[in-house]
Amino acid sequence: MLRVENALTQWIDPQAPAGLGEAMRYAVLDGGKRLRPLLVLAAREAVAGDQTDSALDEAALRAACAVELIHAYSLVHDDMPCMDNDVLRRGKPTVHVQFGEAQALLAGDALQALAFEFLTPAHAGIADSVQAKLCRLLATSAGHAGMAGGQAIDLASVGVKLNEDQLRHMHSLKTGALLQASVMMGAACGAASEQALSGLQRYGQALGLAFQVVDDILDVVADSATLGKTAGKDAANDKPTYVSLLGLDAAKTYAHQLLDQALAGLDASGLTHTHALHALAQRVVIRNT
Ligand code: IPE
Ligand code: IPE
Ligand code: MG
Ligand code: MG
Ligand code: MG
Repeated sequence: MLRVENALTQWIDPQAPAGLGEAMRYAVLDGGKRLRPLLVLAAREAVAGDQTDSALDEAALRAACAVELIHAYSLVHDDMPCMDNDVLRRGKPTVHVQFGEAQALLAGDALQALAFEFLTPAHAGIADSVQAKLCRLLATSAGHAGMAGGQAIDLASVGVKLNEDQLRHMHSLKTGALLQASVMMGAACGAASEQALSGLQRYGQALGLAFQVVDDILDVVADSATLGKTAGKDAANDKPTYVSLLGLDAAKTYAHQLLDQALAGLDASGLTHTHALHALAQRVVIRNT
């Protein structure tokens, strides 16, 4: 993980014009659980097995950083007044509070573009086919069929009572897609069999949904100081969540069912070096922040 922190610190240019670099660094550095980068690296470890390959290690490091940039950009925009209107993120004032709305918008834009620069280095010896696959996975999960689409559904659902299928769909897109892509990007940095890919796909899908179910639960049960973001915002903003749909206890049970599904996917993958993926799944469901 130190490699990810060091790379992010080094690769986000503080010299970007007119304070943009400062806003970008503020959005990404010093905070966050770095769950998505951890998933990329854990999936790379699983598909690599005992084989070493420094170019693929480099590709995985770049993918880990790229997915965190997309995530950080999504948080900057999610917090803006036109979306969730939040003032606290990762224990600090949100980017638009600190730098203004226009700069927050641009910082998000620039982070998104930078993610794809990270994935396409000219001289790192990473095969073009791997670079293209990583770009495709990240673009699809971030765009209209993934995070941005899910966020659109989220905004359109304020005050609306969604049924369970609709809620699952929204959560799978707005949060699940990027988590699942993290797993599949790690898997793309190695030669995985069809069986391995399909097991990891199941793992990523269940884990991605579990993550947002737990996020909904924490919004209700945790306090702002622990979360580093304002608690109780979903109810205040009248957002449909797993807690509002199922109640707290059933939402917790569902999160544990999804954990079981994720671990079953991992078993079905036939991969052996899955210790880190196993531990991350537990961490997603059993966490207090
Ligand atoms: C929060 O994600 C936003 C959601 C997608 C639910 P995280 O809980 O991973 O946030 P950080 O990166 O640790 O701040
Ligand atoms: C955000 O979901 C999902 C994103 C794509 C950023 P939330 O709005 O529930 O995330 P938090 O609770 O503000 O972190
Ligand atoms: Mg939101
Ligand atoms: Mg939010
Ligand atoms: Mg939330």
